[in-house]
Amino acid sequence: MGIQLGNGGRKHWLLLLLLGLAFFAGLMTSLFLNIQSCKEVFRDRSAEVEDPVLLLKSQAEPDLKSLPSDLFTFHYTCSEAAPLAEVRSMLLNEIFDGVSPFEGFPPPHVAPFLRKQRIKGWGSKDKVFDDLLKEVRPQLIVELGTFLGASAIHMANISQSMKLQTLILCIDDFRGWPGFRHTFKDIHQEHGQAMLYHQFLQNVIATNLTHTILPVPFSTTSAIAKLCDLGIQADMIEVDAAHDFHSAWADINWAWALLRPGVGIMFGHDYYLRADNRGVGRAVHLFARLKGLHVQPHGSHWILRRPSLSAARSSVVSDPNHVRSGKRNRRWQETSFKYP
Ligand SMILES: C[S@@+](CC[C@H](N)C(=O)[O-])C[C@H]1O[C@@H](n2cnc3c(N)ncnc32)[C@H](O)[C@@H]1O
Ligand SMILES: *[C@@H]1O[C@H](CO)[C@@H](O)[C@H](O)[C@H]1NC(C)=O
Ligand SMILES: *[C@@H]1O[C@H](CO)[C@@H](O)[C@H](O)[C@H]1NC(C)=O
Repeated sequence: MGIQLGNGGRKHWLLLLLLGLAFFAGLMTSLFLNIQSCKEVFRDRSAEVEDPVLLLKSQAEPDLKSLPSDLFTFHYTCSEAAPLAEVRSMLLNEIFDGVSPFEGFPPPHVAPFLRKQRIKGWGSKDKVFDDLLKEVRPQLIVELGTFLGASAIHMANISQSMKLQTLILCIDDFRGWPGFRHTFKDIHQEHGQAMLYHQFLQNVIATNLTHTILPVPFSTTSAIAKLCDLGIQADMIEVDAAHDFHSAWADINWAWALLRPGVGIMFGHDYYLRADNRGVGRAVHLFARLKGLHVQPHGSHWILRRPSLSAARSSVVSDPNHVRSGKRNRRWQETSFKYP
């Protein structure tokens, strides 16, 4: 028995066919539009990658204070400058319960594991230290990345020979890096905690520099934020912590806010280091371009100077890192970022 389609049956088939065609047409249109918008995105992205500075500038329009610009802008407003004479005691109170970390050191359970002096650094006695200390005659130096204290001890030694009364703040989490003990087996470790910090303290005591050097044993980011909050300003900042692009980029940007207006110098090691596709060098150069600064290579170090005192004064207005609030509080900067 054959199937007989009546008039009603044909209409159903026709309707179904039409619906199917409409669906197919819709599908193709949306696919086409998608491809077109993807092309747009890719075009834009490739333009961005070509010139990061153009990208940053384009994103920093007055109204763009939202999330995307947070990816590359650093908004610190530090507190008013604290008197230099108070810096040491402020930090002792803030992070050491008011007691010097050198007092009563080493305790009996640590003493047997320390060497009287175990100092090892990298380029930590290079001429750049001598040159910059003579140029700046710093009262306060902030060092990012201290390890066993080689470069800090060298700077303290120079400062003493110049009869300066410099305070050197050494920011380091004193954990080195994963696997550092392959080359520093002699540094005792207990339950996965190496005695790097203890050996650093011991080195400073052995060289009689406990009045000049004070550790700030935290991550660079959190320590810089605290110094910024306390209004601690540095005449010189040495950047030598982690050497990948993003760490160096963050360290340089955050720390720049600590530089004393007008006089500060920032410098750092491993300018030519190949790690992370020359991450340190890229971070230094990108920062210099954004701020309109000149990078001065010095041996294996890089140097960034503030523009001359007068130029620095006028840039205080447009440099968000140096818009200082009257309050003793770091606040997120409200105004938009202006590039030089
Ligand atoms: C190359 S060493 C510093 C050497 C020292 N400036 C010298 O010349 O003797 C790098 C140091 O940075 C520290 N470091 C790396 N990343 C850090 C971070 N995010 N916060 C704090 N310290 C960090 C490590 O613990 C290590 O001691
Ligand atoms: C300090 O410098 C003098 C030379 O001025 C040098 O003999 C001495 O070894 C240095 N000390 C340290 C701990 O670097
Ligand atoms: C250690 O340094 C202090 C000044 O900071 C000085 O008075 C003292 O004589 C020095 N001691 C030694 C053993 O060099």
